[in-house]
Amino acid sequence: MNIENLSKNDLKQLATKLKKEKNAVILVHNYQLLEVQAIADFVGDSLQLAKEAARTDAEIILFCGVLFMAETAKILSPKKTVLLSHPNAGCPMADMITATQLRELKSQYPNAEVVCYVNSSAAVKAESTVCCTSSNAVEIVGSIAKEKKIIFVPDKNLGAYAAKKTGRDLLLWNGFCIVHHQITYQDVKIAREKYPDYLLIVHPECKPEVCKYADAVGSTSQITKFVKLHEKVIIGTEIGLFHQLVQKYPEKKLVPLSEKMLCKNMKKTDLQTAIATLLEERNEISLPAKIIENAQTSLERMLLFS
Ligand code: 13P
Ligand code: SF4
Repeated sequence: MNIENLSKNDLKQLATKLKKEKNAVILVHNYQLLEVQAIADFVGDSLQLAKEAARTDAEIILFCGVLFMAETAKILSPKKTVLLSHPNAGCPMADMITATQLRELKSQYPNAEVVCYVNSSAAVKAESTVCCTSSNAVEIVGSIAKEKKIIFVPDKNLGAYAAKKTGRDLLLWNGFCIVHHQITYQDVKIAREKYPDYLLIVHPECKPEVCKYADAVGSTSQITKFVKLHEKVIIGTEIGLFHQLVQKYPEKKLVPLSEKMLCKNMKKTDLQTAIATLLEERNEISLPAKIIENAQTSLERMLLFS
């Protein structure tokens, strides 16, 4: 079937038909293009999408997001066919630590527990004690026995935020999100001066100097909850969430913290690519059984807390 000349409406109808025929579910991250969010069975943050992947009855999961998210879905639902919406949609932060590097670090601190942000490879998750997302990092770090040393990988900003909130001393890996880490105190100052009566909420992948001067810090779903409760908000995360919120709450006054906050990887998937992926069952995620088994333990420990 050639879908190249189909209109957006025809593509949406095709998505509905394919989901039914193939017993497929489409999970979409909050940063994806609105046209992709429009064909979703579920749109959410990393934690919500991981939970949906774990509980779905569908045979096929089309994951519209980036590689670590589709891998997480596969680890939690290993018998299902999991497809990633674009073959090259990765997360540069997830590539900032390898399983070999983590093993070396663990050998220096043999009694430490490893808390691993889900924005990591399956192999790194398999080497970790427990996973976390930006929704539950504080809770997960706080749940680890006080006498234990904690290694936090790969995001030093999320780790610093969890350390501050829990009062725990974490050994932080030097990873970061290229989209959130570029935002500085100067950007906050400019936005605050331009919108003096707005509240500012930022994602915890932002630097400590940015989180410190925000009114609130939260994951993409926590930002959505915050916007529900307030009328004028500066949104400090990837621009896709801002677009979703403007569509959802046209009556509110919302502005992005910075137009620079665009994740190229999240924008690789458009409506046509997503549907072609499902139609042709492309980009299937496949992981070694041992990695699935070990990474599942870390992810399931996290889900017990959430
Ligand atoms: P959330 O879990 O908050 O949706 O964040 C995922 C992500 O990649 C942030 O950059
Ligand atoms: Fe990775 Fe940052 Fe993109 Fe999130 S926004 S997927 S952390 S590069």
